[in-house]
Amino acid sequence: MSPNTASDLSPPYLRLGVNIDHVATVRNARGGIHPDPLHAAQLAISAGADGITAHLREDRRHITDRDVERLKAELAHPLNLEMAATEEMCAIALRRLPNACCLVPEKREERTTEGGLDVVRPNPLLERTVGRLRDAGIRVSLFIEPDAAAIDASAKLRADIVELHTGTYCELALVSDAAGVARELRRIGDAARLAHAAGLEVHAGHGLTYATAGAVAAMPEMVELNIGHFLIGEAIFGGLTQSVGRMRALMTEARAGTTKQAGR
Ligand code: PXP
Repeated sequence: MSPNTASDLSPPYLRLGVNIDHVATVRNARGGIHPDPLHAAQLAISAGADGITAHLREDRRHITDRDVERLKAELAHPLNLEMAATEEMCAIALRRLPNACCLVPEKREERTTEGGLDVVRPNPLLERTVGRLRDAGIRVSLFIEPDAAAIDASAKLRADIVELHTGTYCELALVSDAAGVARELRRIGDAARLAHAAGLEVHAGHGLTYATAGAVAAMPEMVELNIGHFLIGEAIFGGLTQSVGRMRALMTEARAGTTKQAGR
């Protein structure tokens, strides 16, 4: 991994974390073992992913405990475990020791992670979870809305990383709301600068596609993008190697300032 310290003068290498949750969603639709999220993770890494992200949800609707165990045991690349800040999840993380844990809000009835974590309101369980994970040598990331109060609170919680929620930006892009897209990109860019200045490593994710990843990848403070649903969906048409490879190339071009018009 690159050093990516706050004192770097040039933008850091931009890592791609591929979220393989929805390979498990397809597997679980029929039970059984196919398609295997570990196989997908290995393919994604061969195609240029720098790490793998998996969300162990409380209801185990996609990734299972056994998936986390296998991913950690078999992958040489970093595993980023997304999870709610609960005693159960904290115990699993301390047993499996992923490279990073991204703490996310979780509601059982939601389809995906809606909105960022409330880090501003005092939350002793969240504070305790951050401390226990860090003490075990796990890097702690907080999935937050791109706003100043959340960044300030994340720094006070002693997180290593903030992952900025790009969901609103991507939803506005889907409905071609140009003014809304410009406003959200400014919000994400401002938040990235603030977080970097506060000594936090800056990641982003949620809803990113070929059309929307480039503008976020071009932000010099960004260190990692985590992308899942779109890449797994695209893999149906052209294969995972192609979808991950195309996203990797697009991010590299955006970071180098040589982005061509995104296809979709
Ligand atoms: N980052 C976080 C914290 C998430 O919760 C998710 C969704 O699981 C993602 C990134 C990836 O989002 P998507 O699947 O929409 O690319």
